[in-house]
Amino acid sequence: MTGMKAYGFTRYGGPEHESYLDLPVPEPGPGELLVRVAAAGVNPADWKVRAGLRRTDLPLEPPVALGREVAGTVERVGGGVEGFAPGDEVFGGTVGSAGGWAEFARVPASFAALRPSEVAVTDAAVLPVAAATAYDALVQLALPPGATLLVIGAGGGVGLAAVQLAVAGGVEVVGIASRGKHDLLAAMGATALAPGSEVRGTVDAVLDLVGGEALRSALSGLGGNPPVIVSAADHAGVAALGGQPVARVRSGERLAAVARLVAEGALDPRVTDVRPFDEAASALAVVEGGHALGKIVLRIP
Ligand SMILES: NC(=O)c1ccc[n+]([C@@H]2O[C@H](COP(=O)([O-])OP(=O)(O)OC[C@H]3O[C@@H](n4cnc5c(N)ncnc54)[C@H](OP(=O)(O)O)[C@@H]3O)[C@@H](O)[C@H]2O)c1
Repeated sequence: MTGMKAYGFTRYGGPEHESYLDLPVPEPGPGELLVRVAAAGVNPADWKVRAGLRRTDLPLEPPVALGREVAGTVERVGGGVEGFAPGDEVFGGTVGSAGGWAEFARVPASFAALRPSEVAVTDAAVLPVAAATAYDALVQLALPPGATLLVIGAGGGVGLAAVQLAVAGGVEVVGIASRGKHDLLAAMGATALAPGSEVRGTVDAVLDLVGGEALRSALSGLGGNPPVIVSAADHAGVAALGGQPVARVRSGERLAAVARLVAEGALDPRVTDVRPFDEAASALAVVEGGHALGKIVLRIP
């Protein structure tokens, strides 16, 4: 097989440049896996890549297959790969323009892990970007039990994972999200606030998943000591407030740790919408709209 179906873009810009593409099956480079994709996550990074907002850190030459994370079966391994073999069920991040919204994707062995049998393929596909970012942020913040964490954008992919991990660690969580997400946040043990509400009391740390005005206004009424702030959404905005970007650790060990939590029932990546590959455009449009609930996954036939 030399050609494959993918969904991506042929020019940087708006959604009008997206289409199904007939691309060559990629070659796994040294240290890479070629994965036959079963499921792929949908993330804000996908529209940001297409819009050209990631050209500095991720320069790609169109045509580009979208999809920054996948779960599937190892088809072939590149030179120097240890610990993976054809036939293994894996999940991981993708590299370069050979993204995961395709029949095959390139996955660096360094950012891949074996999929535990208890973890559904559609759950595994969304762990490398959102759940792992939530995990990385909480490791970075290292909050003791009883501390208070404010999560801005608590009802999205990263937010719902962060809320669960923080609550499990004994942290008091205040989550900012639109009202339709408040019952779910309350059921997870968080105090939910609508965007624009005044945040009262002491906040030890902030995990920002929205940035811009949402970040600035959430902090404006806070009293007490300034909180430690990390952001996955707005590196310039968080730096201006004395905070840091979320420090990502893109390793197989981190992925395996996140998958173990899912296998044990301690973390649910909250896949709310599983769509067939034919619906890639509408799936990305929902995420690009900025108000997704949990995660959307594409099933690749
Ligand atoms: N650096 C990394 O490696 C990395 C990894 C993952 C994600 N990210 C970035 O982190 C951000 C969040 O990612 P995600 O996957 O969680 O996105 P997502 O699933 O699209 O969720 C974003 C959430 O923010 C909420 N929101 C939108 N405007 C808001 C506002 N003004 N106030 C409060 N909440 C608001 C949205 O819903 P409601 O408005 O309905 O509440 C939505 O639930 C994105 O910018 C993404 O690119 C970075």
